[in-house]
Amino acid sequence: MSPEAAKLSLRGVRLARGGLPVLDGVDLAVAPGEFLALIGPSGAGKSTLLGVLAGLEKPDAGEVLLNGSPLTRPGLVAYMPQKDLLLPWRSVAANVALGLEASGVPKEAARKQARAALKRFGLEEFAHAPPEALSGGMRSRAALLRTALPGRDVMLLDEPFGALDALTRRDLQGWLLGVRDQLVATIVLVTHDVDEALLLADRVVVLTPRPARVVLELEVELPRPRTVRNEATGEFARLKGRLLSALGVAG
Ligand SMILES: Nc1ncnc2c1ncn2[C@@H]1O[C@H](COP(=O)(O)OP(=O)(O)O)[C@@H](O)[C@H]1O
Ligand SMILES: [Mg+2]
Repeated sequence: MSPEAAKLSLRGVRLARGGLPVLDGVDLAVAPGEFLALIGPSGAGKSTLLGVLAGLEKPDAGEVLLNGSPLTRPGLVAYMPQKDLLLPWRSVAANVALGLEASGVPKEAARKQARAALKRFGLEEFAHAPPEALSGGMRSRAALLRTALPGRDVMLLDEPFGALDALTRRDLQGWLLGVRDQLVATIVLVTHDVDEALLLADRVVVLTPRPARVVLELEVELPRPRTVRNEATGEFARLKGRLLSALGVAG
């Protein structure tokens, strides 16, 4: 795919932190409407890379394009950082409305949309509660809604289910699959969970340990709609083996 045809593209992106190289010449192109998972070991540079795609981190070298033009500032794509950052002094609805407010929707209209979204996603009774009242799974759902509501056509998600127990994680993965079907968004999801990457993504990109480079790009040709039942198939096991081997975990 040419950088011009890609929704998002990186070419030769390098970035160092405190003298240490973190990104070591990353090339990546994300197609419009694609669901891409980025996996790599802890400390590889995944969050840094997502920050570059969000326009929050400026690389030392290389090119970052959104719709074929240089990405020069944050706020053009939706971004959910690794920590959910729900503000403790704002109600759940006010937190969910933040993304809309930041994109210029007047406060009252933003709150109204937030309450409607909470209702649609089963969190209505917590609209006026503080975030402490939410379970881990509900917090993730609220943070995802905050990210998705402004309706940007690109969503960057940094380990959105990282802090959840296995069952809640399953539940939310299913939920994200459903949300995705209702959106036409391009999604880049960072995860260190190989099963999650294969369940959700159209393509998985594996990064090396820091400094990060792309070591494998794998098309996930599992049928959609997908459910956890896909994980019992031989094709799933084959893809998982390739990912683990690229991560240096097995093989
Ligand atoms: N603020 C910082 N100052 C110095 N080094 C940092 C900073 N943030 C991250 N790093 C380094 O960059 C590397 C990549 O971090 P990060 O992108 O958060 O990795 P990942 O998300 O893959 O776990 C880490 O190994 C860490 O040592
Ligand atoms: Mg990270």
